[in-house]
Order: sequence, then C-alpha cells, then structure tokens
Amino acid sequence: MTDASTPIKPFLQSLKGNVLTPPPCWLMRQAGRYLPEYRSVRAEANGFLDLCYSPDKATEVTLQPLRRYGFDAAILFSDILVVPDALGQAVRFQEGEGPKLTPVRDSRQIDALTLDGFQDRLRPVFETVSRLKTAIPTSTALIGFAGAPWTVATYMVEGGGSKDYLEAKAMAYGRPDLFQKIIDLLVEATGDYLLAQIDHGAEAIQLFDSWAGALPEDEFEKWVISPTRRLVERIKTERPGIPVIGFPRGAGALYKPFVERTGVDAVSLDTTIPLDWAVEVLQPKVTIQGNLDPVKLVTGGPALDAAIDRILSLCAKGPFIFNLGHGILQTTPPDHVARLVERVRAWRG
Ligand code: CP3
Repeated sequence: MTDASTPIKPFLQSLKGNVLTPPPCWLMRQAGRYLPEYRSVRAEANGFLDLCYSPDKATEVTLQPLRRYGFDAAILFSDILVVPDALGQAVRFQEGEGPKLTPVRDSRQIDALTLDGFQDRLRPVFETVSRLKTAIPTSTALIGFAGAPWTVATYMVEGGGSKDYLEAKAMAYGRPDLFQKIIDLLVEATGDYLLAQIDHGAEAIQLFDSWAGALPEDEFEKWVISPTRRLVERIKTERPGIPVIGFPRGAGALYKPFVERTGVDAVSLDTTIPLDWAVEVLQPKVTIQGNLDPVKLVTGGPALDAAIDRILSLCAKGPFIFNLGHGILQTTPPDHVARLVERVRAWRG
C-alpha cells in the first residue's frame, strides 16, 4: 500500500517510466565474494546451496551491500539453479569450478523431474523474502528473481556451464519436442516460484537470461522470447502492477524484438550494447538498466569515472536505472563500489 506518508520508492518509480535525477542504482551480484563480510558468512555455511536455503544467512548477505552502499534496491540472495534443484535434479556447487548438475538428456530423465514438493523445497527462499521485506530501509525496493527458461535449461541439459552450448542446442534443434517439455516445465515452475516470491514481498522481478546471446534469430523467438512472454503474461495477469525486468544478455540487435514482444517493463543492457542505439530504439518503449563493464569497476580510477559519466549523460535523460552490464567480479575493490555510488548520486544532469 502506498499513501502520502510512503512515497513510491525511486527504483519502482523508474520502472514505471519516470525520469529521476540522479537515477536509482543497484548492481547485479551486489552480494558476493568481493565483500569480506560475505566471505565470512559463506565460510560458516555448508556449501553454497546451504547458504541459499538458510534464511538467516541469506538475509544477512542480502543486507550487507545495502549497509555499505545504500543501494536503491536489494536483490534476494539465492541462485537461478535452485529451480532445477527443487525439480529434483541434483545440483552441486564445486569449489572453484562452478555449478555441476546431473545432465537431463532423454525423455526418461525429463519425466523424472517433478513439481511435487517444488514449493516445499523453496520454502526457505520465501522465508528469506519475508524477512527482507521488513529488514530493508523503506526507500529500498526488494527484487525477486529467477533464471529465464532458456538459460536454466542450458544448465540442466549441459550439466553445468558451457562454452558452446552444444548439448542444449543439439536438443533444441534436433529434438525440439523434448526440449519444449523442459521449457514448458520451467515456465510453469518458474512462474509458481516468482508468484510466491511476490506474495512474500518481492516488489519487482528480474529474469536472468545469461545465455540468450547463444541463439540465432529464428531459435531466439522460440526459446527466449516465447517462454519469457508466457512468464511475463502470467505475472501481469495474476499479480498486476509488479514490474518485470528482462536481461537477455548478449542478444545484440535482438534486444529490439525482445522488448517489443515479451511485455517486459525494463531491460538490463549488457556491456556490449551501444547506448545511443538503446536510447533511440529501446528507451521509448521500456526503462533501460545498465551497463557499466564490471572490469571498469575492478580497475577504477579516471577510466571508471569517465565510463560512469558517459553512461549517465547518454541514458539518464529518459527512464533509467544505473547498473553493471553483468555481475560484479570477485576481484572488485569494495572502495571502487563506494566511488561509483557516490558519483551516480552526485549526478545532476
Ligand atoms: O545479485 C545478487 O547479489 C543476488 C544473488 C545471485 C547469485 N547468482 C549469487 C551467487 C544472482 C541473481 C545469481 C544469478 C545467477 N546464477 C546467474 C545469472 C546471472 C549471471 O551471472 O549471468 C547465473 C548464470 C547463475 C549460476 C551460477 N551461480 C554460477 C555460474 C555460479 C558460479 C560462478 C562463480 O563465480 O563461481 C554461481 C554461484 C553464485 N551465485 C555465487 C553467488 C554469490 C558464488 C558462490 C560462492 O559464494 O561460492
């Protein structure tokens, strides 16, 4: 509920299409290993998934970057791979190696995935959202998230990260009937998951489609645009007023049909997107978010300042949210993040 005593949070105002000076600011992966206080909570957890499923610890690490930097939004601390985990596919995070899953490659393995017990397994995540709702400052918005079906499906079929997505593409192109079954299950499961996050207090949703850039135009429609549109439609129908941010990372010129056909309220721009193009083609239709190269934040100095100023001067005349073009890197010095926030906050157009 909003009334005169609770003004709409800046981040949510931007998502409604308002132009704010300075624009709101948060960073993808703002909670994480670049912060010493994250590393100490992480060291006490019994692995990364345990951290995601422990409401005390997950709430604490979500709040850590807010305390330091006062970002305009908090993003729930979890991972996109809790969805396959809750569908019954074994997920492990190997120290220093990234995620490992038992690959799903045939119809027997696909049929073994199940929505039975799905919401139960994710209950600790919803508990974290509830706690965050009351713990964050009143001007800070709470973002819920999930991986988009295409990206989560690539992890499920490949059994982990991948350079060429050969197994996932082989199934999508060669056995589209099988791949569609995975995508349909993910659309349903992810929809249930996001609606529950909203019911526990998430005020906006971001869909991470990290590997959207791996697909050619014809397949992009089928595996990125269509499942995203189905998810957005469900959120808009069942929880009206909750804004959705899409992040089809690496999609290049396909950001345009993504914006035109998925129904998202905003798009997060990766570092490669030319900003004059984004301002001309995308910003008239949706709020844009992005897109500082995370490596600039590692290197810092005058090059960081110049990159921040360039993004602000090009994007902040329209609906805009300052962010990175991808997640913050582990080697980022925390004081560079402070410098970034200070500079964005000092922006007067
Ligand atoms: O943004 C935030 O602060 C919220 C938390 C968040 C994490 N992962 C925490 C995390 C979010 C939004 C994600 C999304 C995510 N997870 C994506 C999409 C965004 C992107 O980066 O492209 C993807 C592809 C994943 C899958 C994933 N999770 C990978 C590939 C890895 C290993 C990477 C690595 O750096 O080791 C993870 C683990 C992970 N997720 C960590 C964090 C903080 C590091 C785990 C640790 O502490 O050991």
